[in-house]
Amino acid sequence: MDRELAMELIRVTEVAALASARWMGRGQKNEADEAATNAMRRMFDSVSINGTVVIGEGEMDEAPMLYIGEKVGNAASPEVDVAVDPLEGTNILAKGLPNAMSVIAIADKGNLLHAPDMYMEKLAVGPKAAGRVHLDDPIEVTLRIVAEANNKKVSECVVIILERPRHKKLIDAVRKAGARVRLIGDGDVSSAISTAFDDTGIDICAGIGGAPEGVIAAAALKCLGGEMQARLVPEDDDEYQRCIRMGIADPKKILSMDDLVKGDDAIFSATGVTDGELLRGVRFYGGDRAETHSVVMRAKTCTVRFIRAIHKLDRKPYPFLSFPA
Ligand code: FBP
Repeated sequence: MDRELAMELIRVTEVAALASARWMGRGQKNEADEAATNAMRRMFDSVSINGTVVIGEGEMDEAPMLYIGEKVGNAASPEVDVAVDPLEGTNILAKGLPNAMSVIAIADKGNLLHAPDMYMEKLAVGPKAAGRVHLDDPIEVTLRIVAEANNKKVSECVVIILERPRHKKLIDAVRKAGARVRLIGDGDVSSAISTAFDDTGIDICAGIGGAPEGVIAAAALKCLGGEMQARLVPEDDDEYQRCIRMGIADPKKILSMDDLVKGDDAIFSATGVTDGELLRGVRFYGGDRAETHSVVMRAKTCTVRFIRAIHKLDRKPYPFLSFPA
């Protein structure tokens, strides 16, 4: 994949973030998601890839655009797998809370896990603890390993967990081990990525969240030298059979970084929609100007670029953005 693609992808997450940010705090998560999806889909037409959406807004009969299997991009090559979440954290955005983002990951064709839309158990850590943890270790063991790797006491470590009844045992165990917990309402892509940045203070991301989000976060962690281990959680036989149909021979197996994102040629781009741990959210200024903050990373070189951009919304390509009245 050409390295210039990194810049092209930033434009795509920027435009999705700009489109959805107008809906911040308006309590209309579907409208916000639709605005992000429309904008992202439209911008993909200018990207030089022959892409196939492998993680998107749903199956073909469920989503009008960015559905699984949809072709995106305007070139014959490179042939790439595309994973998108035009608005990661729809509830967050609807309530005006932190850490909503627009995200994309791409990798050579066949290299992203075609994760079904179901739950996934995840464990993510930053580069210092990468290669040392195991999904099936009790959390108190993981905490000791990560504390040592990060040169901290267990009591200084922070585990970020989605606040859900299913995580009660995990939360109790972290507290019992003497570590600290950050509970979040939504948005575990940004929490997994935050383990790889020292200044977030987050050491571990653990618990069950969406499988598509797991693959997207794994692509970012690959660029950052962090690690995610995961396991699909099919909730019934239908979901189990769905995994098999999607080519996952053993749906219960632990998925390594290479199972989630094969090889070392992946690109990840994210633009903040609301202010967050990693990125500032969209700011609208007078005179049709707006500011975005994005991060783009390549696994091949492990380069991480933060990009602050000022956009003039009355100029091309932005007039197609439809904003709420
Ligand atoms: P959406 O952006 O689709 O609303 O997903 C938000 C999210 O919090 C993900 O970050 C997370 O992986 C998943 O939902 C958790 O699912 P659930 O809300 O069912 O526990």
